[in-house]
Amino acid sequence: MNPLLDRLHPYPFERLRALTVDIAPNPAFRPISLGIGEPRHPTPDFIKQALVESLGGLAHYPATAGEPALRKAIAGWVERRYGVALDAATQVLPVNGSREALFALAQTVVDPTRPHATVMCPNPFYQIYEGAALLAGAKTHFVNSDPARNFALEWDRVPAAAWEATQLLYVCSPGNPTGAVMPLDEWRRLFELSDRYGFVIASDECYSEIYFRDEPPLGSLDAAARLDRHDLRNLVVFTSLSKRSNVPGLRSGFVAGDATLLKSFLLYRTYHGSAMNPAVQRASAVAWGDEAHVVANRERYREKFAQVTPLLARALDVALPDAGFYLWAQVPGGDDIGYARGLLAQYNVTVLPGSLLARAAHGVNPGAGRIRLALVAEVAECLEAARRIVSYTESLA
Ligand SMILES: Cc1ncc(COP(=O)(O)O)c(C=O)c1O
Repeated sequence: MNPLLDRLHPYPFERLRALTVDIAPNPAFRPISLGIGEPRHPTPDFIKQALVESLGGLAHYPATAGEPALRKAIAGWVERRYGVALDAATQVLPVNGSREALFALAQTVVDPTRPHATVMCPNPFYQIYEGAALLAGAKTHFVNSDPARNFALEWDRVPAAAWEATQLLYVCSPGNPTGAVMPLDEWRRLFELSDRYGFVIASDECYSEIYFRDEPPLGSLDAAARLDRHDLRNLVVFTSLSKRSNVPGLRSGFVAGDATLLKSFLLYRTYHGSAMNPAVQRASAVAWGDEAHVVANRERYREKFAQVTPLLARALDVALPDAGFYLWAQVPGGDDIGYARGLLAQYNVTVLPGSLLARAAHGVNPGAGRIRLALVAEVAECLEAARRIVSYTESLA
């Protein structure tokens, strides 16, 4: 067996299951889970219909590079959303959800034979980054998020030796779980560091369309254009239909960026066998071409967060994030696992303890003392969960 498999960590939900296996939740309450970050608003009918009407292509193998019509639809969306004109032939690739692509990029980019091969990750983070790094034969260097600066990452504390060893840097903006959006100054700094040390930036932007401020989150493509980096050197962005269009089961997203990197990525993907189902390609092109359903979806999240956040803020230290569909709340007493266990036992509400979404690094686990609440269910269910959380928290005082 590949010995690197032994280095993988159990997934946060597996750890939560193990940590709560002894609990019999209070049967007076029906179960509500705010644990898993899976979109639950309904899939728009026109996307389902486009999928069904596109079944005619199943008699052929699809190309890994995707059909020109899909690449064009993706480039069209990027232009409308970010004002950036991409070459659909060389700067865009369809992927089967951003998760597989986030993983696969590390296998393409990392050279494990170089000394101290390192992949840099935010902390807390989406666990795929870490697994991708470990299976590529690299080690991870975590950069903690700072709650005092809207969860910005502590780039100042990264030693030069870590930058020198870094081959790939993952960033997530809007962040999971913090919801923080990286501003232009931070992008300027990361691009300068990438130029100096030669690492690739993998920018995970799958929550970009669910936001609570007036202006949409800055994306890395937008940032690169504003900073005159039109060749997008050493940058690959990951976007997905899963959250934007409520189709996590479709498995559809795209990568865009540096044409030289995408050429190697396409080669890797061809051998790996990552072509997208042709019916999914056509439904995806239709979904990228429509914005009305995305506006309506965002509105639902906005209404939900506007009702749930102030209710929870009565008991917890929590604020509306820049974007995403999570609240990243501080719990009294600082024991996030104990808090989550008690909440499940007494009120039958599942939340994800923050310490399971982060690693202890530089003397601290930056997820400790926090919980992640995924507000993916309908508003009534989220409000019911919030009321129970308030009651539970007040009972601890
Ligand atoms: C931060 C982050 N990136 C990527 C993904 C993967 O999404 P998908 O593969 O559906 O595009 C998720 C899913 O929850 C996520 O939270």
